[in-house]
Formats: sequence, C-alpha cells, structure tokens
Amino acid sequence: MNKKTILTGIKSSGRPHLGNYIGAIKPALALAQNPAHEALYFIADYHALTTLHDPKEMRHSGYEVAATWLALGLDPARVVFFRQSDVPEIFELAWVLACFTSKGLMNRAHAYKAMVQKNQEAGVDEDAGVHMGLYEYPILMASDILLFDSHLVPVGKDQAQHIEMAADIAGSFNAVYGPVLTIPAPYINEATATVPGLDGRKMSKSYDNVIPLFGDPKKLRKLVMRIVTDSTPPEAPKDPATSSIFQLYESFATPEQIEALRGRYQTGLGWGEAKQALYEVLEAFLEGPRKVYDDLMAHPDIIEGHLAAGRERARTVATATMDRVRKAVGVGRA
Ligand code: TRP
Repeated sequence: MNKKTILTGIKSSGRPHLGNYIGAIKPALALAQNPAHEALYFIADYHALTTLHDPKEMRHSGYEVAATWLALGLDPARVVFFRQSDVPEIFELAWVLACFTSKGLMNRAHAYKAMVQKNQEAGVDEDAGVHMGLYEYPILMASDILLFDSHLVPVGKDQAQHIEMAADIAGSFNAVYGPVLTIPAPYINEATATVPGLDGRKMSKSYDNVIPLFGDPKKLRKLVMRIVTDSTPPEAPKDPATSSIFQLYESFATPEQIEALRGRYQTGLGWGEAKQALYEVLEAFLEGPRKVYDDLMAHPDIIEGHLAAGRERARTVATATMDRVRKAVGVGRA
C-alpha cells in the first residue's frame, strides 16, 4: 500500500485552547487513525521564536503543546511526534528553498502584508518591526513540509496560503532539477474551521477570548458562564445554528445529547441552562486527559523521551531527503 504522508506543525506559543482542539487537534488525530496515512506531527518551536523571546516561556510552551497532544490521544508509536528544533536538516533545506523563492512571493504573504498595512496606517516606515524571521516564515514552513515528502497538510484556513507557497516553491525547485520534491496540498476541515470564542468572534489568543483546554475545572466553569449571549428570554425558542454555546457543545456531546439540547432550544431554555450543559460535556471529556496532562507536565522527562524517539524517526527521513536535494543541486561530497 502506498501510504500518504500527512504532516502538520503546531506553533508553541500560548496555552492550547478549545479552538485548537476542535479546529486542529481533533481532525489531525482522526487523520492519523487512518491506516492509509503516515502521520508526522511536530512542535514548531522555531516558528514560535518569531514572537516569543522569553526562554523559560519558550520551553514551557513546548511542553504544554506536547503534553496536550499526548493527553488527548496522540499515540507516539503511530505518529512521528517530534520537535522542529531537533531536526537541523529543516534549516539546511530552508536555505536551499530560499534560493528558489522569489522575494515577490514573500511580499504577498498575509502576515507580512498585514504588518506593512498596519505600519502604513500608523504613518511609520512600512517595514517597522518586521524582522527577517517574520518575512521568511513561509520558507521555513515550506521546508518543514517538503523535507518529509508531505502529501497532505492539515491546517486552519489562515494557513492555506502557506501551503500554496510551499507547493509553489517546490515547483520552482523541481522545474530546475526534475521531480525531486513532493508537491503538498492543504487539508482544510471546513466544518470546524472557525470555533467561536467567549465573545462570539473566532476563538483566538489574539482576541483574548479563549477557553483553555487544561486548568482548574472551576475556572473552566467560570469561563463557560462568561460566553456572551443575547437577551432572548428563557421561554423564547432559540436558534442553535447561531449559538456559540451550541456550536461548542456539538464538538463534545454525543449525537443523542446534541439532539436533546436542540429540542431544549426549540422549546425555550435559559442561557444558564445551556451553559451548564456545555460545561458538563466539557468536563466529562476533559477530566481524564487533564490527569494525563498534569502528570506529563510534572514529568517533562517523559515528554522528552517521546520526542527523542520521534527525532530519530524524523531524521531518518530528513537525511534521506537532504541527500537527494544535495545531489540534485550539486553540493557536498560527490
Ligand atoms: N504556521 C503554522 C501555524 O501558525 C505552524 C506550522 C509551522 C506548520 N510549520 C508547519 C503547519 C508546517 C503545517 C505545516 O499554525
């Protein structure tokens, strides 16, 4: 059987939240279950360095992300689970790819463009605060993807452009040397692409509206109770499709529970009741993983053990691709 390689990177900046679980972790773990897939998932710590310059926080964030994925069911025997900074070949390939990436392509990257626009609006130099790490971010990401011959890259919609850029860059390289690099495609789970946060906008660290996955259950309940609702009176029927509470509920409840709550929306329920129902399914889901998470965070050596095994497996693939690339380009020992 010709397996398809699926790969995704998880930037380790900030505590993982419900939006990360629904939008990224859950679909990625489901993809990894498919025996037709060879999955490689990694902690993109060097991508986090574009914004995170505190060494303690950097290390802690890496462990938080690793412990989160492991606690939620990532099986390190099945998935090659590693840390980007443990694979030096990524950075070697990144240079090669930079030589096949037009500057104009990087000028069009969304994150860079947004910074430039913000600077223009503020009337300052358009590159103010833009470092080369931000500018080259898509090249490093292309390297992550291309080094492992990835076919499919599960990501959120906001990352789709980066995958297209990786495909573009691979195309430019292959146009010169022949089919050396595998052309990747994004895999976007539309249904769960946007998870509502506390204020109804997309759940995102930058909006400060997230519900963290792990932490004190009392705090979890408090946050759920803070989800913004309208002033429809309890007895009035409510539309589940426009309710953040219902959308979150659907990701954690059984089909029977979902139908039951849908019924309560139609007959009329108070928002407090809906929130309590959401809290209960969340707590039922998170209780077990929280124990595993806390245990892993208390024993980072266990996390390191998993990552060390992943590193070996990842580097076996990485060195093979780099040999191919070096030969194609004509560098290194002949
Ligand atoms: N840029 C991605 C994000 O912010 C993380 C990432 C880094 C990634 N390298 C990757 C995702 C390679 C997919 C493939 O979410």
